[in-house]
Amino acid sequence: MSHRITIEPSGHTFSAQPGETVLQAALREGFPLPYGCRNGACGTCKGKIIQGTVDFGSHNESTLTEMEKQAGMALFCCALPLSELVIECREIGAIRDIKVKTLPCRVHKLERVAPDVMVISLKLPTNERLQFLAGQYIDIFMKSGKRRSFSLANAPHDDELLQLHVRNYPGGTFAEHVFTRMKERDILRFEGPLGTFFLREDSDKPIIFVASGTGFAPVKSILEHAFYVRNVHGNERQMVLYWGARTKADLYLANLAGNWQQKHDNFTFIPVLSEALQTDHWSGRTGLVHQAVLADFDDLSGYQVYACGTPAMVEAAHTDFTRLRGLPEDEFFSDAFTVSPSEARS
Ligand code: FES
Repeated sequence: MSHRITIEPSGHTFSAQPGETVLQAALREGFPLPYGCRNGACGTCKGKIIQGTVDFGSHNESTLTEMEKQAGMALFCCALPLSELVIECREIGAIRDIKVKTLPCRVHKLERVAPDVMVISLKLPTNERLQFLAGQYIDIFMKSGKRRSFSLANAPHDDELLQLHVRNYPGGTFAEHVFTRMKERDILRFEGPLGTFFLREDSDKPIIFVASGTGFAPVKSILEHAFYVRNVHGNERQMVLYWGARTKADLYLANLAGNWQQKHDNFTFIPVLSEALQTDHWSGRTGLVHQAVLADFDDLSGYQVYACGTPAMVEAAHTDFTRLRGLPEDEFFSDAFTVSPSEARS
């Protein structure tokens, strides 16, 4: 039996077919609700059930707690409607017209830019382009049938090659493949673009980007897009990037970010190291990256924040920026690289 769902405050309505989650039904009917992992790990799709009941589905316990369920919250990527519903959540307007495609691609180039980071450039078939919003990601299909999600690091206007930043970590099957066996000219298949982490261009608020590790990838895409738009339309939004890593070598494209700072007077780059080596001769900022932002800003009420990287960093940034610095909830945008029961993100 299908169930009618009404979104508040927009009043949009759609129907969920049997077995469809709230998110699947909304996306199928052209109402892009925010989402990230689509498997109950990241919390991006969390919203409120104002009326009706759902089966909460299988999700990480810490992503949706019992207390939150009792308060009417649900993860729409996992929630199956059991009745007609009225839900409350934000809708994303800008991705409505972007088609999600499944495409083959060829590994064009592999560049090891840090001991544990590989930059992969992918070439699409001739006559194919991937339309996406800066900051979105793609899912690579692995031979086992599993998917592995990677943010696109190139800007949409620079789409001849798709760029991914892959971090090697223990137990990462795809990462291990990339670092040991993948070679140029290998064929991969992917689905994309996916996700709702992209630049909100209808705002002129100054932006703080907070990235940890390869969380730099989508931020690179967004910044290169913003610089491009600035050249075309003269957008003067102030932007600052705090990029956190353990050691200097982990800031694998620090020179690129430094060059942006020299070229663009509306952009500042602040690298932050948490475990600088003596051999790094580091005289820059140290500690946790989100704490560097807290130290520099007393009041975030007039800002937008885009945070991308480890779940711990993204969660700490969200909590501290909204609770301690007055950042409005709906001005915090995030993409947490989760390692979940069915897939991992890097
Ligand atoms: S999209 Fe639902 S928890 Fe990540």
